[in-house]
Amino acid sequence: MSFPKGFLIGAATAAHQVEGNNIHSDYWAQEQLPHTSFTEPSGIACDHYNRYEEDIRLLAGAGLNAYRFSIEWARVEPEEGRFDETEIEHYRKVIACCRQYGVEPIVTLMHFTSPVWLIKKGGWEAEITIAYFRRYAAFVAERLGSGISYICTINEANMGLQLAAISKRFRLMAEQAAKSAKNAEGTVQVGMNFEKMMENMKFAAIENAEIFGTPQPQIFVSSRTPEGDALVFRAHQAAKEAIKSIRPEIRVGITLSLHDLQALPGGEALAEAAWDEEFRHYLPFIRDDDFLGVQNYTRTQYGPQGQLPCPVGAKLTQMDYEFYPEALEHVLSRVHEDFRGDIIVTENGVATGDDEDRIEFIRRALKGIENCLNDGIPVKGYCHWSLMDNFEWQKGYSMTFGLIAVDRATQARTPKPSLSFLGSVTKE
Ligand code: BGC
Repeated sequence: MSFPKGFLIGAATAAHQVEGNNIHSDYWAQEQLPHTSFTEPSGIACDHYNRYEEDIRLLAGAGLNAYRFSIEWARVEPEEGRFDETEIEHYRKVIACCRQYGVEPIVTLMHFTSPVWLIKKGGWEAEITIAYFRRYAAFVAERLGSGISYICTINEANMGLQLAAISKRFRLMAEQAAKSAKNAEGTVQVGMNFEKMMENMKFAAIENAEIFGTPQPQIFVSSRTPEGDALVFRAHQAAKEAIKSIRPEIRVGITLSLHDLQALPGGEALAEAAWDEEFRHYLPFIRDDDFLGVQNYTRTQYGPQGQLPCPVGAKLTQMDYEFYPEALEHVLSRVHEDFRGDIIVTENGVATGDDEDRIEFIRRALKGIENCLNDGIPVKGYCHWSLMDNFEWQKGYSMTFGLIAVDRATQARTPKPSLSFLGSVTKE
């Protein structure tokens, strides 16, 4: 495989999933509820907050040249309007560490977790959130901008509508047959325990009200209204404007969770409508961005009645969705039909206990990128999810997406063969 000079080959993480002790965040609060939907709390996670240097060294040592990570808003602004210089200093060191090892930092400002105070003010359905997010983005750009070339404002900004759709489907299925409802979890690209959530809903509402002042807190990963959906993209635009006014040279984009939506005979119209909802209707908000972050994990097939279960006999990942690395190439081509700017694959990966499968997944995904490059699609980089086994949200530590294994008892890191396989690409 050969990639153009300067092509970014990296791995990704998100603050809450790896750093540990993210105590001012909404996720931390929800993990502690007596009727939580989380399998286990994040706790110390991978202690990446203290061990980032070792992790970046392993990444660079294997040959990777980019590291996508997120800055935690709940650390930087733990109370409304109080910005914590110590935390900014921490992230300055992480960025400097990347540079020291010749690694390009790709910084995400918002990867699912928000400060508790933001949620108390209405969270991701409240107009005021746009101004708050702009202020936070401006602060980061002012303090850290000189070391950063790429910023992703918001991770998987389209997640809220996907969750609204799946919750609706889940409710209908749950009414019909509680048992088959479980199959729906595998149709969203993030660890969710819908069955547990449904059981806990009544109690969780009371407990949420105590912490967030509302029984239905609008966290980032909540089902979103159409207004909330637009609000997230307006927050992106506001943040981008703020960053550009401080550091015009920073390349700013957003990331989207995109499935390879395939139509079987009779499913064409539904698959098209789903692609409109998942991708096309966002174009007016992102058309002029410096790049688009594409995140893909699998495909979804449509028949005349709607989404179909995975094909019979298909190989499944630990997340219960199909092992299908070719999805990435299909999504990149599809995105390029309407979005002509640069694309960075900001996430792509597989939860599996078998590292041979991960290598196979990466090999086929990268082959897809090579095909796209040959077709003239401006793909500028590939970040594998994830650098290390980590906290897969509601599903806890049971999903192993990492290129590096982390011993939960000792925090010892063991690079898997897939790490050097991915790194070898930069040496060809
Ligand atoms: C998210 C990650 C998550 C990954 C695997 C993406 O939806 O950005 O935070 O861990 O998928 O499910």
